[in-house]
Amino acid sequence: MSAILVTGGCGYIGSHMVRLLESNGERVTALDNLSTGNAWSVQSSETLVGDLLDLEFVRNVFKKYAIKGVYHFAASSLVSESQQDPIKYHETNIQGSINLLKAMVENSVNKIVFSSSAAVYGNADTNCISESASIEPINPYGETKRVVEKLLSSLHYSNEISSVSFRYFNAAGASEEASIGEAHFPETHLIPRVLNSVLDCNDSEMSIYGSDYATEDGTCVRDYVHVDDICKAHLLGMEYLANSKGAHILNIGAGKGYSVLDVIEAAQEVTGKTITPRFLERRRGDPPRLVSDITKIQSSLGWSPQASELKDILRSAWKWHNSDTYRRLLLDDSID
Ligand code: UFG
Repeated sequence: MSAILVTGGCGYIGSHMVRLLESNGERVTALDNLSTGNAWSVQSSETLVGDLLDLEFVRNVFKKYAIKGVYHFAASSLVSESQQDPIKYHETNIQGSINLLKAMVENSVNKIVFSSSAAVYGNADTNCISESASIEPINPYGETKRVVEKLLSSLHYSNEISSVSFRYFNAAGASEEASIGEAHFPETHLIPRVLNSVLDCNDSEMSIYGSDYATEDGTCVRDYVHVDDICKAHLLGMEYLANSKGAHILNIGAGKGYSVLDVIEAAQEVTGKTITPRFLERRRGDPPRLVSDITKIQSSLGWSPQASELKDILRSAWKWHNSDTYRRLLLDDSID
């Protein structure tokens, strides 16, 4: 039986994708180097532990399994870390993708759904960013995603590889049954950090990076989209490739912008706790506003986010943060 390969299958979004594919009756092979992924997050499917930078390992995966399509999540994905270690980002995200694509070409696997990022847009000068906006990444992370998008476009012409590159805005939330969710140690993302800050107390302070941006309240504005909605778009993206050859690029967002202060306010409502903002310097590489125009994904895939309200996304994340699994992980991490 042929299998779907999910690189980064033990990561935050990858593990939700594995679950969704399993529930659709697919045979899934997850590949992960476990540098940030969690082995426990994939339970039913086979997980191959290895690195995309190891070409022989990647070639062996394609030799051993009849791969019919690839979802490529594996990447280093922290904007701030990419500023400090650009070589790591270029190596992991670009060379890792090259090895994967090489093995795909060698084995005539011709469909891939790639996790790109809204970080390719940089300081966009429009309220809602469409795919045709100018591409000027302002951090190495965004640069690496753009390079892979371009490589995929070339591979469509040279090797008939069809792809959908999804430019994610800010992924957030957790699966409804709260058995998997976002679990990075250390955590740098806004929503999990806000929720962590009030997990075992009633009042907390939350650091805000920058209050002098040219936005309504001076803090950065982002477009938060539920992880399950992202995964559903991926399924549709792979289906789309069956009849629409090409190198497609689509935004995935909810199409609504929330400032850091909006997120804190909504988190107070959802958790019933008090969170006091503590204003710090700007974080390098943060664009002031990233909000998606989702017209293209709506018309080409018929996709719209089901969780379009920030509070719904926060509620699912809060449920995960209160789960036994997450609490155990926090405890284990403090022991290390
Ligand atoms: N922020 C704070 N305090 C914190 C953490 C974050 O103020 O403790 C702010 C950030 O400065 C930023 C906003 O909250 O303005 C969101 O930050 P995140 O770290 O949650 O997310 P990013 O927008 O930096 O990055 C995310 C993904 C990237 C992706 C990008 C695209 O991590 O992979 O969205 O929008 F490229």
